[in-house]
Amino acid sequence: MKAYNLCHKPRCNGLSLGLLIVFDFLSCFAYAETLYHEFVVEATPQKRLCRTRSVITVNGQFPGPTLEARDGDTLVIKVINSARYNVSIHWHGIHQKGTPWADGPEYVTQCPIQPGASYTYRFTIEDQEGTLWWHAHSRWLRATVYGALIIYPKPGSSYPFSMPNLEIPILLGEWWNRDPLDVLRQAIFTGAGPNVSDAYTINGQPGDLYRCSRKGTVKFFVNFGDLVLLRIINAALNQQLFFTITNHKLTVVGADAAYNKPFTASVIILGPGQTTNVLLSADQTPRRYYMAARAYTSAQNVPFDNTTTTAILEYIAAPCSVQKGIPLRPTLPRLPAYNDTTTVTAFSRQLKSPTRVNVPTEIDESLFFTVGLGFVNCIPGPQCQGPNNTRFAASINNVSFVLPRKASLLQAYYQNIPGVFTTDFPAVPPVTFDYTGNVSRALWQPVFGTKLYQLEFSSRVQIVLQDTAILAAEDHPMHLHGYDFYVVGQGFGNFDPGRDTANFNLIDPPQRNTIDVPVGGWAVIRFVADNPGVWLMHCHIDAHLTWGLAMSFLVEDGVGESQLIMPPPEDFPPC
Ligand code: C2O
Repeated sequence: MKAYNLCHKPRCNGLSLGLLIVFDFLSCFAYAETLYHEFVVEATPQKRLCRTRSVITVNGQFPGPTLEARDGDTLVIKVINSARYNVSIHWHGIHQKGTPWADGPEYVTQCPIQPGASYTYRFTIEDQEGTLWWHAHSRWLRATVYGALIIYPKPGSSYPFSMPNLEIPILLGEWWNRDPLDVLRQAIFTGAGPNVSDAYTINGQPGDLYRCSRKGTVKFFVNFGDLVLLRIINAALNQQLFFTITNHKLTVVGADAAYNKPFTASVIILGPGQTTNVLLSADQTPRRYYMAARAYTSAQNVPFDNTTTTAILEYIAAPCSVQKGIPLRPTLPRLPAYNDTTTVTAFSRQLKSPTRVNVPTEIDESLFFTVGLGFVNCIPGPQCQGPNNTRFAASINNVSFVLPRKASLLQAYYQNIPGVFTTDFPAVPPVTFDYTGNVSRALWQPVFGTKLYQLEFSSRVQIVLQDTAILAAEDHPMHLHGYDFYVVGQGFGNFDPGRDTANFNLIDPPQRNTIDVPVGGWAVIRFVADNPGVWLMHCHIDAHLTWGLAMSFLVEDGVGESQLIMPPPEDFPPC
């Protein structure tokens, strides 16, 4: 793998008369590059929480390799499946303009790569910079198959904030002592909620607060005075997480590969799928500090993993201080209570785009989507273990999404394969009800189907994402493939167009690819459908995705050649 020439580093920022520096400066305007990587998906033994189990990894690494690129670069990643499961890889947050076949969700844009087979993903990064990530998009394989995808500014440009001396990717994850696919299998069999995880992890390690874990605790070393850019990614399968560092303020400068108006926070919150870039000044007494993450959980009476993962931020000067009597053991930061929705709301209200942005004001497609759980009645028995003789389900507008099996949606669309999907996904829920009130049980049962919502090229879309209180209201991190969107409004209760539309932020709303729909509330997003393809939208809590909390958009071709879906690559995996 080639060492990356970080041309965004300070030498690009100032002009100098020194010949060498002028040369360096010019080389920063080098053309965009094509970066080649090989990802071997394979089983490797990993020891956590006192036991060793076989884990599906990429190149034997857990978390997987960090991809680094600059805006404008093309990434070519050959994925070789040496594991015994079908797999596909998604490049979370990459727009994939013109390359919908490289998006990755299995049975949506491709059939999975079968054991022994390979597939090469090829895509160009266009007008995106910041922190994204990649992960398996096959059942629950992303529990261990994930890594950071870092996009630096284009050659010759730099961050809209002071240049950090150090950058650290922080991947928050979730660990099960059992094989996550067995946990999934059991949940699918019983119809009950899946077992919660046994640990959270920071860069693959649970940290000091778990059994047999202290030796592996991740340490990050800083010098006093460093300005550090932390690229935090919530790669957990099923859990929103709070993250904080003892004694340090965090300046939030970006989320989901978009910059924002900087603001400081002592705690940040990330739903699964979301990323947050923060600046940290290493200006505290040189010693060791904990960083820690633990659950934010909004649904009442639903079991969750109540443990805390930690890593250590260590000032390189700390050991002498230790000799002078400063304790070796860092102190734990204070984290909000697991149900502290007030902190979550205050945090998300502060996120705003850095300047005025181009939000669509006229809307062609005004959609209202209820998002939430559902239940299917069943005959009591081992396969009927959900609450009160039901099996869990989940839906958008009462449709519980079912993945096809014989072809991917994109292929079925492109090659006119009949019988794979229908385009009658409803624009509004089948009945109007008090979504966040006491929902009658008669409204708990979804229908199952592979329904797409068809959008004309370039239509301006607004979606109200309305949480439902079916069983329990719950915060849902909703992710849209193929696009970023603006979050023009958020609130609690039922969305009321008369009252709430007037309060939309059409000036500087944040740009994201994953939005946490507030518990018992709503979020409104807008985007322009200028990227033809089939794009999944779903809750990034994999338990909910498994139950069908998803739908897909089918975005039609435009007129120009750059607005058409091109044929699939030759090595495109068959079903
Ligand atoms: Cu990060 Cu459809 O996923």
